[in-house]
Amino acid sequence: MIAAGSIEANQDGFTLTDQDFEAIADFAYKHFGLAMSSSKKPLVSARLARQLRQQNAGNFKDYLARLNGKNSNEERSKLLSLLTTNVTHFFREPHHFETLRKDVLPSLIERARNGGRVRIWSAGCSKGPEPFTMAMIIHNMCPDIGRYDFKILGTDIDPQVVQFAKTAKYPQEELGQIPAEYRSLVPKMEADGRMPAHLRSMITFGVLNLIEPFPFKGKFDAIFCRNVAIYFDTPTQQKVWQAFQRSLTPGGYLFIGHSERMSGPAEEKLTTSGITTYINTPPGGSAQ
Ligand SMILES: C[S@@+](CC[C@H](N)C(=O)[O-])C[C@H]1O[C@@H](n2cnc3c(N)ncnc32)[C@H](O)[C@@H]1O
Repeated sequence: MIAAGSIEANQDGFTLTDQDFEAIADFAYKHFGLAMSSSKKPLVSARLARQLRQQNAGNFKDYLARLNGKNSNEERSKLLSLLTTNVTHFFREPHHFETLRKDVLPSLIERARNGGRVRIWSAGCSKGPEPFTMAMIIHNMCPDIGRYDFKILGTDIDPQVVQFAKTAKYPQEELGQIPAEYRSLVPKMEADGRMPAHLRSMITFGVLNLIEPFPFKGKFDAIFCRNVAIYFDTPTQQKVWQAFQRSLTPGGYLFIGHSERMSGPAEEKLTTSGITTYINTPPGGSAQ
């Protein structure tokens, strides 16, 4: 039931006023960078109703007071999960992995073999298929990669998906999305069904909110941030793109999602190189 005007009651009988919606939208913008226009009101009302019931909250104002109260971290991440999607899969948007394999990895692997340091970041990695896809490709190209200083970082704002990624136990139907040439890894899964240790050891997973300053000292040779910035408004996207550009080595690659658009100050310092793929232009030089 959607009442005309400013009040919306969902099936559970909780009423979301315009004021409640604005307070939730402000909270989500401030803490997660999520931009929600009033068209999202029915979605917010429907998705949060069950959470209110589970938390025995009397109404949306009670719920907001809890979100703003002490020890609310768990409730905050639950809210984020309800407002976003964690959908992901192995080899998603495969053209990026083809670019990684053909254009990016050969020189990075060579550098690692010569004793250099290589870092790749999957930012907003959800449950981990994106960094595990990278790990499979790298391992296929260089089976002794574990001997070198070549690491992948996988981060997400949601602690629950990060915990899932650390455990790395994927259902068979999801593993079935792995292309035939990499499928040989599947029978090598650990007895407990986890991804094999040699892939897990290449990746470090952690919780990180992309709208906060990045805590890294070193730079990344490639950053994947795909299907995350769709939740942000243009000013937030531009800040995040700029922060990525500044975190890249000269000539480093940035991959963004198919429905995302590069804009703002970062655009001037990045050279387009294929679909939603950018190279950090070295100072005074061309990208390639
Ligand atoms: C649709 S998934 C994308 C997963 C993967 N990159 C892919 O393309 O398959 C979006 C992820 O972005 C995360 N996310 C949303 N806002 C974020 C933020 N402010 N900082 C970091 N991660 C965020 C969500 O928790 C979710 O796991």
